Amino acid sequence: MTGISRRELLVGTGALLAAPAVGGFAARRAFAADGALKLSRLSHEVLPGTLTRDMMSFIPEGPAPVLRMRQGRPFSVDVDNRLGEAATVHWHGLRIPNAMDGVPYLTQNPIEDGKSFRYSFTPPDAGTYWYHPHCNTLEQIARGLTGVLVVEEDEDPGFDVDLPLNIRDFRLDGKGSFIEFYKPRNAARGGTLGTVSTVNWQVEPLHDLPAGALVRLRLAVTDLTRVASYDLASDLPGSPEGGSARVIALDSNPLPMARPARDILLAPGQRADIALRMPAREGATVTLTRSSPTGPVALATFRASGASVNRSLAELKPLRPNPNAEPDLANAETLDFLFGWTPSGDAPQRSICGSLGYTFWSINRVAWKGDVPGPLDPLAVMKHGRSYILRLRNETQNDHPIHLHGHTFKLLRSDKRPVPPLWTDTALLQAQETMEVALVADNPGDWAFHCHVIEHQKTGLAGFLRVEA
Ligand code: C2O
Ligand code: CU
Ligand code: CU
Repeated sequence: MTGISRRELLVGTGALLAAPAVGGFAARRAFAADGALKLSRLSHEVLPGTLTRDMMSFIPEGPAPVLRMRQGRPFSVDVDNRLGEAATVHWHGLRIPNAMDGVPYLTQNPIEDGKSFRYSFTPPDAGTYWYHPHCNTLEQIARGLTGVLVVEEDEDPGFDVDLPLNIRDFRLDGKGSFIEFYKPRNAARGGTLGTVSTVNWQVEPLHDLPAGALVRLRLAVTDLTRVASYDLASDLPGSPEGGSARVIALDSNPLPMARPARDILLAPGQRADIALRMPAREGATVTLTRSSPTGPVALATFRASGASVNRSLAELKPLRPNPNAEPDLANAETLDFLFGWTPSGDAPQRSICGSLGYTFWSINRVAWKGDVPGPLDPLAVMKHGRSYILRLRNETQNDHPIHLHGHTFKLLRSDKRPVPPLWTDTALLQAQETMEVALVADNPGDWAFHCHVIEHQKTGLAGFLRVEA
């Protein structure tokens, strides 16, 4: 077995890392139950031949480790903050107790530099998630603080290889130095796009994987800004020797019916699990691309190596649905949320969690003041155990991936397009679109509710919902 790059091996060093399990070459290692993350600054070669200084990661050695845990099993991790500034860690999509949710002031005090905080929880659902800071979020994510989090199913679905793909851009110049993380005029529109696209901090990585193997690609879009469609393209299209791929889950929730891995629209915060059957012919490739106005951009390539192991997508066990409570629509109360422009020239308050100094956006005409000590008013109060329909109305010309912490909700309908009844924690609300989603308010606490274009979040498009115990 060949083909794991030196860089992947480096990424896979350190006792706490779970390297992508590549055909048994790098054995899958579970994140230690009593592990630690050390939030650190580091220099790293992102753009080949250059060194990017002052990057941030969850470990001092390189990109964020893939965190692996098991559905229904307790997990804990000590987060040791060595960033030189305050931080928190949020576990995006996990339905865990509020005190572990990692939102400054709302659920915990920021972890100051040199201090540590122990997060302990039991993930109730399986799937592909991610983790990121929630304090000075724009800068810390821009510098690299995003990682993929995997909650493994109790029952092994039968893949040969499990490959998490942390998809994101960086804003770098040609020498690999950071340029300004955002431009205010963009923050007031669609957001500021990156200049260098990466997968697991690598520009266009090439993965050699066993020919004919079944690979679980876990796409996590952890970018600050970019909304785009993704495709998997075989270099032997239509040939039985080529690869084939199906989307099996979106935002951690299995699809009732797998769909072709084409035109997968993903916004910041969203994920897709893809079952890829590698080409049978040695050397044949499948390429992950992202659509752009000038044509597809290659992000990563998977190349068949060795004699075919001859697996077939039909051999995979279907993923079991997560135990989401079905909302009682007949008795649900409807709550309205308007995502719009900011009403006045409200300035955000200063905070140790950073402020961009501008307010451009609001929810229900209230702009989030920034991450400041409370008491703060919720946008809505829900009763524990009751069902709610959230009517999400976007009055703007921009896309807003709307994310709710601590809950999974079901898409009901849109006034713009057919929406399948999918479960998610982050719904892409397109320009001028109104969407209705439903949930059971089954997790008590104050839950952040915001746009996941971080420039929008940090310039007003944020708030929280309270679930009263
Ligand atoms: Cu991905 Cu409030 O978070
Ligand atoms: Cu979240
Ligand atoms: Cu937005």
